[in-house]
Amino acid sequence: MPYYRVVGEVPRKRHVQFRRPDGGLYAEELMGEEGFSSDSSLLYHRHLPTAIIKAEAVTPVMETRLEPNLPLSPRHFRTQELISTGDLVSGRQLLGGNSDVRLSYATSDRPSELYRNSMGDECVYVQRGRVRFESTYGVIEAGEGDYVVIPTGTIHRWVPDGPVNVLAIEAGGHIRPPKRYLSQHGQLLEHAPYSERDLRGPAEPYVVEGEEVPVLVRTRGGLSRLVYRHHPFDVVGWDGYLYPFAFNINDFEPIVKRTHAPPPVHQTFEGPGFVVCSFCPRPLDYHPEAVPIPYNHHNVDSDEFMFYVGGDYSARAGSGIDVGSISLHPAGFTHGPQPGAVEAVIDAVSRGVTTTSEMAVMVDTFRPLDLGQGALSCEDPGYAWTWAR
Ligand SMILES: [Fe+2]
Repeated sequence: MPYYRVVGEVPRKRHVQFRRPDGGLYAEELMGEEGFSSDSSLLYHRHLPTAIIKAEAVTPVMETRLEPNLPLSPRHFRTQELISTGDLVSGRQLLGGNSDVRLSYATSDRPSELYRNSMGDECVYVQRGRVRFESTYGVIEAGEGDYVVIPTGTIHRWVPDGPVNVLAIEAGGHIRPPKRYLSQHGQLLEHAPYSERDLRGPAEPYVVEGEEVPVLVRTRGGLSRLVYRHHPFDVVGWDGYLYPFAFNINDFEPIVKRTHAPPPVHQTFEGPGFVVCSFCPRPLDYHPEAVPIPYNHHNVDSDEFMFYVGGDYSARAGSGIDVGSISLHPAGFTHGPQPGAVEAVIDAVSRGVTTTSEMAVMVDTFRPLDLGQGALSCEDPGYAWTWAR
């Protein structure tokens, strides 16, 4: 996280005696990235965060198998057709993945169990609905358009308020703002498309009483369920640079040129082996002779996974892509606007249209993205041939 935050009660100095009202000591816990060499927070628990009373291996409910994108094809997946199963963690339907990142889709109206991903950070994009994110750091109320970024190892759960649809981006490392938007000490610079004021962290402690509380833990070895003696939500205060936060896509301030700007201007986050970009409503490119739509491009080193979340994406007109669709344009394939889309947008500009309403979340992966069963179960088999019509 880019900036320091303090929530609840913490002692005046680190690592000094901090006592409960009954005279006992609070248990201090450091959550630290990269050993002791990167961002961290100190949390103060009522009970020992180490006290577990049971551990068991867990078989994943959902299919986790991936297969290569063969024969190589551009793909169109219709998440609108996926059937809801489980909760926002156990019910994730795997769309794609590689050794760096896994992309899943889930829809649910029921609370998840407590969950800790110890493989990497997660960025969960809320496509639709309202959901309460509860964690050891506190609560974040999230809704449509929110990216909720969850540091590795954060114990949390999702409590939907009605049906909620999410895209879950599970990284193999840490998800951060793009380096080029940060000062050398981590402040978001003036040319960044968002600032610290746009990020929402937990505002107060969230304490839950409970005993013998199971927590689902994901590690590189697989899934386990650890049962804690006391409820892990027993933190009375914490401070530091490491905590979950939400950022709403509508707070992304688009960067616009007179002629068409490439996707890096939409970059929102970066992780090991991938980037996340937000395509938001904005003025159309305004050079008098601009072609205000993407040019054909061959991404030599990346696969483009694009989730269409709102508005009208003119470059894909006539392809069958709609809100809720995902396109995958892999390396090895040149993609661009569908036939007639360039002419249509130039004509729209001549009739006075000056803005685009498109809204999309893109994940560009630097290694080939293999396909999950969730994606294959909702694929539109005709998409690959839509440029040749
Ligand atoms: Fe593209």
